[in-house]
Amino acid sequence: MASETVALGDLTVNRMGFGAMRVCGPDVWGPPEDRVAAHQVLRRAIELGVNFLDTADSYGPYVDEELIAEALHPYPKGLVIGTKGGLLRPNRHAWDPNGRPGHLRSAVDGSLKRLKLECIDLYQLHAPDPKVPFTESVGALAQMQRAGKIRHLGLSNVSLAQLEEARRIAPIVSVQNRYNLEDRSSDGVLAACEKFGIAFLPWFPLGAGACLKSAKVKKIAARLEASAAQVALAWLLARSKAMLPIPGTASVAHLEENLRAAAIRLSAEDLAALG
Ligand SMILES: NC(=O)c1ccc[n+]([C@@H]2O[C@H](COP(=O)([O-])OP(=O)(O)OC[C@H]3O[C@@H](n4cnc5c(N)ncnc54)[C@H](OP(=O)(O)O)[C@@H]3O)[C@@H](O)[C@H]2O)c1
Repeated sequence: MASETVALGDLTVNRMGFGAMRVCGPDVWGPPEDRVAAHQVLRRAIELGVNFLDTADSYGPYVDEELIAEALHPYPKGLVIGTKGGLLRPNRHAWDPNGRPGHLRSAVDGSLKRLKLECIDLYQLHAPDPKVPFTESVGALAQMQRAGKIRHLGLSNVSLAQLEEARRIAPIVSVQNRYNLEDRSSDGVLAACEKFGIAFLPWFPLGAGACLKSAKVKKIAARLEASAAQVALAWLLARSKAMLPIPGTASVAHLEENLRAAAIRLSAEDLAALG
């Protein structure tokens, strides 16, 4: 993998991470059909130089964190695991926010246990809960950080105003919002991340597949003898030094293909064509 890195507080990770959500069962619900294959994807990511994994207690729920521990514990030196809490899964189609301090405190303890960690390197609030004052949710996580259970705090699915509000409570090292060639609605948040030295983790970096259908992307890919996914990921890396893509897949072949995107340099002409 190319040697570019990004900081998560005092930790440094390679720029391309791995989004582990896709190794669970269909709809991110329940165990994968083939547990051994899921372990293989996770282990191959590490072999290829990935040292940042993104997960959440709601993936499965719980299954994703369990798979990571099964496949990789005891963890290799330098591996940074970012997990998230604050979403509940009452059924396979629902992702319900719960940002109550009591829930977040028990969620952190649950992730520590499943991941077999004494301290979580990056704990991200998965989404603001409209029923709970945002400052209460962030404050509860800041309290867990002071208790030594969390090393760094991150946010996900936040507005610029929420990022600023959280930064008044505790240092924030990362933001994870939806961002890809087709959806740049978080451009303002990305600019703030660049300004404050915060890593930006674009979820749906391939638009969950949508970016692969773009004619512009396909044309550039054909000329570079690359795949559309590689062009979409190379564009993200070129877009900002704060960018830490976490493409997800359940396939070793796609994983290998996606990681090779770190070596692709798009020309100024290509970047202009992609807008
Ligand atoms: N914070 C949040 O609210 C939030 C929400 C969603 C996701 N996330 C995180 O962000 C990560 C990335 O998002 P994502 O996995 O949903 O989206 P994504 O990376 O944009 O797309 C993943 C989809 O594209 C396919 N794919 C991956 N590589 C491919 C390739 N080279 N060629 C063709 N198809 C390919 C995968 O299927 P195959 O398995 O067949 O490869 C999968 O269906 C997740 O894993 C998760 O950690 C966070």
